[in-house]
Amino acid sequence: MKYSGFIPAVVAALAASLTAGQPESLPSLSAGAFNEEQAIRGQTLYYQHCLDCHGETMAGVDKAPPLAGPQFTSTWQDAPLAALVGRILTMPPEKPGSLAQVDSVDVLTYILWYNGLPLGESELPADLSVLTTMNFQLP
Ligand code: HEC
Repeated sequence: MKYSGFIPAVVAALAASLTAGQPESLPSLSAGAFNEEQAIRGQTLYYQHCLDCHGETMAGVDKAPPLAGPQFTSTWQDAPLAALVGRILTMPPEKPGSLAQVDSVDVLTYILWYNGLPLGESELPADLSVLTTMNFQLP
């Protein structure tokens, strides 16, 4: 009987089965925490609900502030993503809560992408308990 090779394989299979049912650890924003599909959904929503005030390049129009660039970064750097989603839910100012939370998270990913954060493999979850653990951070 030859055990070498067999035992490590069993251990590996066991380890895989133990971790199978658990959520994958979330990638950091800088490693790609949302995917292209989600950002594109967010873009469609942005064009429908945000464009008139915040502009095509997110530079802001009239009283509406920019959603990309140095001013936006200095306001939101290190803030939990949940806070940013909460802020998006106050939009538009005269009709807060127009967007469902899942849609606000999709819009958020488009804003993150526009701020230069990379696309990844999976979607950013809309779960607030997850979004409180992730911070907006530009390198
Ligand atoms: C009718 C114009 C209007 C629309 C539409 C609108 N916004 Fe705003 N937004 C504003 C104004 C004005 C402010 C700043 C004052 C305030 O909060 O009321 C603001 C502030 C913000 C802020 C805070 C920016 C900062 O520097 O802290 C975010 C984030 C934001 N809006 C996102 C969005 C998103 C996402 C949408 C679309 C779902 C949207 N807004 C739609 C006018 C608008």
